[in-house]
Amino acid sequence: MAKLKWGMIGGGEGSQIGPAHRLGAQADGVFEFAAGALDHRPEAGREYAQRLGIAADRAYGGWEEMLEGERNRDDRIDLVTVATPNSTHFEITKSFLEAGFNVLCEKPMTMTVEEGEEIVRVAEKTGKICAVNYCYSAYPMVRQARAMVAAGEIGKVRTVVTNFSHGHHGDATDADNPRVRWRYDPAMAGVSGQFADCGIHAMHMASFICNDEVETLSADFASTIASRELEDDAMVNFRTSGGTVGRLWTSSIAIGRQHGFVIQVFGETGGLRWASNSRTS
Ligand SMILES: NC(=O)c1ccc[n+]([C@@H]2O[C@H](COP(=O)([O-])OP(=O)(O)OC[C@H]3O[C@@H](n4cnc5c(N)ncnc54)[C@H](O)[C@@H]3O)[C@@H](O)[C@H]2O)c1
Repeated sequence: MAKLKWGMIGGGEGSQIGPAHRLGAQADGVFEFAAGALDHRPEAGREYAQRLGIAADRAYGGWEEMLEGERNRDDRIDLVTVATPNSTHFEITKSFLEAGFNVLCEKPMTMTVEEGEEIVRVAEKTGKICAVNYCYSAYPMVRQARAMVAAGEIGKVRTVVTNFSHGHHGDATDADNPRVRWRYDPAMAGVSGQFADCGIHAMHMASFICNDEVETLSADFASTIASRELEDDAMVNFRTSGGTVGRLWTSSIAIGRQHGFVIQVFGETGGLRWASNSRTS
């Protein structure tokens, strides 16, 4: 089978999620990493892309250059992953869809609901795939939990309790680190910091396992490090359309806690628990 030609925007050297995408693509064995605009610094992006094995003429200095470069090639990329900070997702994703590429966009897909709806319209019009990687829902045991709920093995679901918290942004003296700072800056992250970064995975997972939609919520957002405009800790209560009660805590200042995600689902006749690692409680 011919490999799919894959491109990436963002995910430069030292980025958090870039290596995870490359590792995943390599593990699947069906992708050829063919093009990239990997860094907001053009030269650093070109240089790193070539170090990763991308040909010099497809190691681009920016996403616009990559769009122009790939658009008219006979061997153009089949899909592109967008792994840049949130504020850039909409423009890049829309532009690549409109040029006929399939797109895997990092979460959160856009900064506003209106932008998200626009992306859906463009994807439908062009017939191209636009996926957003809520990656945790792909774990086999999560799929098993969803199947058990669907089969009625724990009865009607009453409550979901979940947390996705870590302490990696708990050091106030590191708050100006460029890789940390954008996450709490509304201009780059959007309306939410930690909830959009990690809490959103927990909320998506609650919907995914229960096959249900979150309908209403109330939230207590706190910026515990004073220089941060957006929240670094949040407690969220929600209700689903099926009547399930949800409790969600997310934090990036939980020092001593590793990056970890837990979800528990309690039904009328049983309960389920999944954790992303054994150190997570
Ligand atoms: N699905 C997940 O579990 C998960 C986990 C972490 C991050 N993310 C998402 O991935 C995205 C990136 O997060 P990160 O943690 O890797 O951030 P990061 O700050 O560690 O890295 C961002 C990278 O994008 C590059 N970049 C910035 N602007 C660019 C531009 N205009 N063109 C090309 N490259 C550009 C930077 O140079 C850097 O290499 C965010 O939207 C975040 O929400 C998702």
